[in-house]
Amino acid sequence: MYDGDIASTLVTEQAIRDKIAELAAQIGADYASEQAESDLLLVGVLKGAVMFMTDLARALPLPVQLEFMAVSSYGSATSSSGVVRILKDLDRDIAGRHVLIVEDIIDSGLTLSWLLKNLESRQPASLQVVTLLRKPDAVKVDVPVKYVGFDIPNEFVVGYGLDYAERYRDLPFIGTLDPAVYA
Ligand code: XMP
Ligand code: MG
Repeated sequence: MYDGDIASTLVTEQAIRDKIAELAAQIGADYASEQAESDLLLVGVLKGAVMFMTDLARALPLPVQLEFMAVSSYGSATSSSGVVRILKDLDRDIAGRHVLIVEDIIDSGLTLSWLLKNLESRQPASLQVVTLLRKPDAVKVDVPVKYVGFDIPNEFVVGYGLDYAERYRDLPFIGTLDPAVYA
């Protein structure tokens, strides 16, 4: 598949699987007592987080419900501005719910920072973030991310939900693109 387009594998399929098991155990333990109040609500950010969200949901040892949001951030193709527009909002009210935002990748953190403010204003019982990947710039901004899968170098990555021009989302691993693809 995509012969020659992927320059290197950054995170293998097995490493993703192992990490999700680890995160699920940790999240499961952290939310064990909240479970008595209501099911944990996973809020996935479309489309990149879909693969991670569905695998995480099945690995978690407690009942979860799934909601999705789609947002677009204004800015150049490679960096976001922090100005965000909701393309698809949640289907339900999250007031009083324990909410866990599921992200594919945090780069500048601007999108997430906006999302946290937006969801916080809806008065959930709790609000945390899990991201599969985090780039170095994200560490500089002050966005509270409780669960991080992998800290990766500042390279453009694709696969396992992440795209370049809507392609490569279906790869089961995370890799870097051959520069020839951009040309
Ligand atoms: P910020 O900068 O607001 O943006 O944290 C995060 C969003 O930017 C996209 N993004 C990427 N998408 N490969 C991708 O396919 C990447 O390497 C990459 N880096 C950032 C992504 O949509 C993420 O939600
Ligand atoms: Mg994208």
